[in-house]
Amino acid sequence: MIGSGLGDGSSGAGTGATGPTLRNISLSIPKGQLCAVVGPIGSCKSSLLSCLLGEMECSVGYARVAGSISYAAQKPWIFAGSVRENILFHRPYHAERYEQAVRACQLKPDIERLPAGDDTLIGERGVNLSGGQKARVALARAVYSDADVYLFDDPLSAVDVVVGSKIFQHVLSNSGMLAGKTRILVTHQTQFLPQCDNVVVLSQGEVRATGSYQQLKASGAKKFAC
Ligand SMILES: Nc1ncnc2c1ncn2[C@@H]1O[C@H](COP(=O)(O)OP(=O)(O)O)[C@@H](O)[C@H]1O
Ligand SMILES: [Mg+2]
Repeated sequence: MIGSGLGDGSSGAGTGATGPTLRNISLSIPKGQLCAVVGPIGSCKSSLLSCLLGEMECSVGYARVAGSISYAAQKPWIFAGSVRENILFHRPYHAERYEQAVRACQLKPDIERLPAGDDTLIGERGVNLSGGQKARVALARAVYSDADVYLFDDPLSAVDVVVGSKIFQHVLSNSGMLAGKTRILVTHQTQFLPQCDNVVVLSQGEVRATGSYQQLKASGAKKFAC
């Protein structure tokens, strides 16, 4: 069963004088897998996620996702409200899942230091969070949502190596709280690639290689993974 995929697709608001943003993409990600998407800045990693979200049109071919999607954007967003409201995002409160998401996203110590815990107002007119805290609140929102497919756009870029490693293990990896869900992880953190089921290497809007980290390493494609 296909978790998500693109068939022979070319897509993008960029079609026209400059040509399509993504070209000749033929990709399918099996249900339940953790798939990393790597490539240099501007290689269309975020565009690939936009395509799967239906935010970018395919001029040729199709993009299809089986089931519901949860998405953590590259630029984390916070709205004026409490920490808890920002994580729940109008979904019902389930104490166990909420606690699991907060802990896995390494937010517990930050919340304990806030004046009113997770009732503390953040965003406009509230407490100003650091970039790393915003990233983890936005990640916790995506994680809390019970979806079939999770799209994460470089979620570890704003956190330090130790915290990033914990988030990878407890949230993103095959032993984390989303194990068994289809996860597409855009990342520059190549140290996590051996723990991903599949790696997609993008360059200039095209898929340069796909396979397990070991396969890519053996084929020499690892050099694209930056
Ligand atoms: N909505 C859009 N409309 C037109 N061009 C876009 C849009 N989003 C991204 N692009 C272009 O697509 C290319 C790849 O961008 P992006 O997907 O953000 O790369 P990456 O995430 O790998 O850094 C860039 O040239 C960018 O200008
Ligand atoms: Mg991007």
